[in-house]
Amino acid sequence: MSDPFAALYHAIYEQGELFGVDQPLKADPLRTSAQGVRANSIAIGGGAFGDEGKGRIVDALCGLLAKRTAQLIVYRWNGGANAGHTVVLDEQRLALHQIPSGALHKAALGILGKGMVIHPEDLLAESAQVAQALRCAPHELALRVDTSAVLALDTHRAFEAALKTWESGGSGATGRGIAPAYADVLLRHPVRVRDLLADDWRERLGKHYALYAALICGLGMHIEAISVPALSGAHAVGSQAEFLSRLEQPRAFLQQIALDAYPYLAARWAQPEQCAFIFEGAQAVGLDPRFGVYPDVTASDPTFGGILGASEGLIAPEQIAVRANVLKATYSSSVGTRRLPTHMPDPLAARIREDAHEYGATTRRPRDILYFDLPCLGYFTRVSGATHLVLTHLDIAYPDVPIRVCTHYTDSSGAPMPYRPDQHYLNSLTAHFRDLPSWNGAALRGAKQLADLPRTALQYVAFIAQALGAAPLMATTGAQRDALISWLP
Ligand code: IMP
Repeated sequence: MSDPFAALYHAIYEQGELFGVDQPLKADPLRTSAQGVRANSIAIGGGAFGDEGKGRIVDALCGLLAKRTAQLIVYRWNGGANAGHTVVLDEQRLALHQIPSGALHKAALGILGKGMVIHPEDLLAESAQVAQALRCAPHELALRVDTSAVLALDTHRAFEAALKTWESGGSGATGRGIAPAYADVLLRHPVRVRDLLADDWRERLGKHYALYAALICGLGMHIEAISVPALSGAHAVGSQAEFLSRLEQPRAFLQQIALDAYPYLAARWAQPEQCAFIFEGAQAVGLDPRFGVYPDVTASDPTFGGILGASEGLIAPEQIAVRANVLKATYSSSVGTRRLPTHMPDPLAARIREDAHEYGATTRRPRDILYFDLPCLGYFTRVSGATHLVLTHLDIAYPDVPIRVCTHYTDSSGAPMPYRPDQHYLNSLTAHFRDLPSWNGAALRGAKQLADLPRTALQYVAFIAQALGAAPLMATTGAQRDALISWLP
């Protein structure tokens, strides 16, 4: 099959068509008046395999939206303590895991939604760190947790560790008990925030402990002795009494910040001129268990579709004015064992890894670098329901190296094949590439205006946006907070 994007290449690179990417958008999509679409609402998700730098984009959007409405809600709809991003607050670096990054904005109220799995001890430890930086008590933070959110406890972390020893299911996980906590929902025995807040919580949580002790015993191990990670330091799960006693303080904290989110959200969702919403996703569509590749997938729904369930049917993704996937502009990065046909060899991969600091935030593990993969990222854009793109690292481009983009895959007979989330299948494919003209990334580093972008960068953005079927919303041009270009008018 010949390159399916040949006509697009011709339009952009030979005819000079830019599809408007050299101009701000004509109308502000956040201010939309389209029927059924709610103004002042935006969702930010990971468009590839995680670690796309969503926190920084949410931070910029908080600044923008806080000026427009009296109230700003930053709502996180999925995941738990498996996420991680660093936020700089008054020159202090804070590592956030469960708290949405936008919740630190002074105008914002952060809500940990029903679709999340909450580790109460880690949440208290994280909140204490943030509170110290803001010079207030943890319960004074503008932070609320939905009473319907599921708990991801030390029992789940121990079970995941046991599964890892057993060599099934736990491998590749962050060890934060995420998958067992979500599995509890499907197995019809979840423990939720409201169970921890109930008067008979010791009984409910005690029963939960007994179940996990039995499951782990079935794997030939003892729950008491299993060491689990925690923000305050790894420790053994211990006896049921010890497990319950560790939950006492976090329980008192959760009592102060618990929220029955549905009525609260419903009242504010109905007031678009008074209250702006930012939906902050964790992980990324490439880590979705339906759309990513085993074993490197998580258990939550990181797509915009996850917002509907988390909000109990209140907010359909189509009502959110902008749904933007964050992607690295000129390449992708990935950690884990997945192998895509677009794996980039050294020395270019090594050069990009150094220039873009592509090392795991906590582990310092070098990330795999991939060529920009249209079949895969197009699939992710479609299944996640994105309308817009945020392209980061536009400064990672070299004038002497064209930007290689995968346009399609074929099988061994040369027949065109789509992306499918199956490692065995992906191993059988051959990737085909097109080289696009590059630009001097170092020269545009720190650019803040569309007019500062060279024409080749604009042509590239036009190509990617057209090929993926989503409009550009923002791009980052360097590590500094203000090295950001926006297409918003
Ligand atoms: P879990 O979410 O702990 O179950 O981990 C499952 C997989 O998702 C592992 O391969 C993790 O490395 C990956 N993962 C989970 N959260 C993130 C993230 O925030 N960034 C990148 N990878 C993640």
